[in-house]
Amino acid sequence: MPLVTSTQMFKKAYEGGYAIGAFNVNNMEIIQGITEAAQELNAPLILQVSKGARAYANATYLRKLVDAALEETGLPICLHLDHGDTFETCKSCIDGGFTSVMIDGSHHSFEDNIKETKRVVQYAHDHGVVVEAELGRLAGVEDDISVSAEDSSYTRPEEVEEFVSKTGVDSLAIAIGTSHGAFKFTSEPSLRFDILEEVQRKLPGFPIVLHGASSVIPEFVQMINEYGGSMPGAMGVPEDMLRQAAKSSVCKINIDSDLRLAMTGTIRKYFAENPGHFDPRQYLSPARAAIKGLVMNKLTNVLGCDGKA
Ligand code: G3H
Ligand code: 13P
Ligand code: ZN
Repeated sequence: MPLVTSTQMFKKAYEGGYAIGAFNVNNMEIIQGITEAAQELNAPLILQVSKGARAYANATYLRKLVDAALEETGLPICLHLDHGDTFETCKSCIDGGFTSVMIDGSHHSFEDNIKETKRVVQYAHDHGVVVEAELGRLAGVEDDISVSAEDSSYTRPEEVEEFVSKTGVDSLAIAIGTSHGAFKFTSEPSLRFDILEEVQRKLPGFPIVLHGASSVIPEFVQMINEYGGSMPGAMGVPEDMLRQAAKSSVCKINIDSDLRLAMTGTIRKYFAENPGHFDPRQYLSPARAAIKGLVMNKLTNVLGCDGKA
């Protein structure tokens, strides 16, 4: 099966009250761990590539690895550019075979965000590709850009209808209190579900995206802390909140940090227990298995998209 866009996935997810997992990929083991999990559970999948991932692995390598996953799994997979910063980055991914791109104009003024998004939408739609945009701004670190809590801002529901109708965008990422990275809350986690509900009322049937949605799974943070790392205060979005979001108009839930923690925790443990080993296959195998286990849990217990491919 060739790569698909997220259009049908989102329609079914919206109607079915579940969400699609959008997992960030950077290398072969991550792609294998995620796609083996989805294959076993017959789940639709979005694999997303950041600007940093393209710089690290080279977009062609990632594209070919995803082609291999398509061939191996036969799953509906959408290949998405995460946090595209410019029209040129989006165009390069569209020309390179991606089926979905995000143009992240959340740091621009409302008017400039509309202008930039509209330009990407026109090019993308001409090439059969769908577009995600963002209104409101998440805190945290993404692609070397650090957004402080003071510079972050919640999505303003009164802006969403105008934004969607003027840009023609296919899905919208909103800011309701999640953030990128492993340190999302300094006290009790809380999200602005009232904003999500208001957006859903203004845009009935329209797919919403939640970024910064890792749970920062304690098992892996503990593993990192136990085996020579140090991540005091790491905290993510509780799974209950993600389940609640998945039942609403949120159709795409972005997860990256949890994959990083699973991989790093497992490798730290491996080296602590096997100090003399130096074959990458030996320590990457358990890391890949940890990613697979983590993704299986997300698909079934959090997103509810197992069996929906
Ligand atoms: O939202 C950002 C993702 O976690 C990707 O991070 O840009 O470091 O690859 P990255
Ligand atoms: P996390 O840092 O919570 O995994 O968020 C990832 C993300 O939003 C990618 O766009
Ligand atoms: Zn993001």
